[in-house]
Amino acid sequence: MLIPGYATREGTARYRGRFASKMPGHFREAGGLWLASIGLGTYLGDPTAAMDTRYREAILRALESGTNVLDTAVNYRFQRSERAIASALSALVALGTLRRDEVFIATKGGFLSFDTDAPDDPSAYFEQKLIRTGLVRPEEVVAGCHVMSPRYLEDQIEVSRRNLGIETIDLYYVHNPETQLTEVSREEFARRLAAAFAALEKAVAEGKIRAYGTATWNAYRVGMGAADALSLAEVLRIAEEVGGKGHHFRAIQLPFNLAMPEALTANTQPFDGGHVPVLQVARTRGLMVFASATLLQGKLAQGLPAEIQKRFPGLEKDAQRAVQFVRSTPGVTCALVGMTRPEHVAENLATAAVPRLSLEDFRAIFSGS
Ligand SMILES: NC(=O)c1ccc[n+]([C@@H]2O[C@H](COP(=O)([O-])OP(=O)(O)OC[C@H]3O[C@@H](n4cnc5c(N)ncnc54)[C@H](OP(=O)(O)O)[C@@H]3O)[C@@H](O)[C@H]2O)c1
Repeated sequence: MLIPGYATREGTARYRGRFASKMPGHFREAGGLWLASIGLGTYLGDPTAAMDTRYREAILRALESGTNVLDTAVNYRFQRSERAIASALSALVALGTLRRDEVFIATKGGFLSFDTDAPDDPSAYFEQKLIRTGLVRPEEVVAGCHVMSPRYLEDQIEVSRRNLGIETIDLYYVHNPETQLTEVSREEFARRLAAAFAALEKAVAEGKIRAYGTATWNAYRVGMGAADALSLAEVLRIAEEVGGKGHHFRAIQLPFNLAMPEALTANTQPFDGGHVPVLQVARTRGLMVFASATLLQGKLAQGLPAEIQKRFPGLEKDAQRAVQFVRSTPGVTCALVGMTRPEHVAENLATAAVPRLSLEDFRAIFSGS
């Protein structure tokens, strides 16, 4: 039995109401919802039962203490991360302490994934599960690991709905679509992306997802000369071509942190006759932006320079300063942080009780004044 419903304005406002006095300014209105400025990501960690339990506990703790944004992908930890979310979510919904319409759940499809454990012979496994069943044609597979054909994405949406135990996914990303550019021409890429978006518009119409977007690593951060660069304006043009003016491409996810500030600082994106950072395009086009790798995979939690530390008053830990940087960035909807330890959930969420940096203090980080 899948949990019906999806995140709504009313539900997310209700959730926000439970934390607003302790965490003023933590929730922002985005895409018609009230979303926490710090979300929980589920990428890292071994595919083991012990790590499943750690994730479950961390997700429970996070949902109970002020995070209503969860991020995952079908391939994370061989589908175990999606199932850990299901386990925590269903427990709280059964208890009656959380309602489905209060929580925003995003997942991704595109990478081939094992199920629970790695098989002895990965090639034979994919041959049997994907090629022989006709789900995937060999020419659709890029880099031995990535497919974004409509048929495959439709299948992966079903897998994710089942894993997550929910009828409707709030946001579905095409996962690292730029991977395709390592093997196909830009013309073929545009055709594949349009076909993928058509499948996602259909999934929206069927109530399986509410919105879609791209989760990328390099695509929008590198200059357009790079082989894996993407123009967000062009991606949006394709969405509009496929879905009309009312298309459901509503969000991007990309790495953004103190050590990788390109989304804010690098003029990579062709826009209005010039070049601007991707955050500016996203803002102008009304997209939600989810920052991944907020802590640079944990590295920013250890030993920021004193010059940077002093820019974040009221915060004692480097992880909190790194989170504060991302959640204070104009145009960022939510800072996604991978966390499997309850003490990390508590520490990171304590940041939400401290007001975000003012624009002036934020700018001073870059000017050094
Ligand atoms: N291309 C993509 O689509 C893409 C790529 C990367 C990431 N993402 C998304 O973004 C999310 C966040 O990125 P990430 O998980 O790769 O990296 P991250 O958030 O930068 O770092 C996560 C690591 O930081 C540790 N950590 C968390 N809070 C801490 C604290 N207060 N003090 C010290 N260490 C702390 C975690 O440890 P514990 O586990 O021990 O708590 C974990 O090892 C991912 O989980 C995923 O959902 C998407």
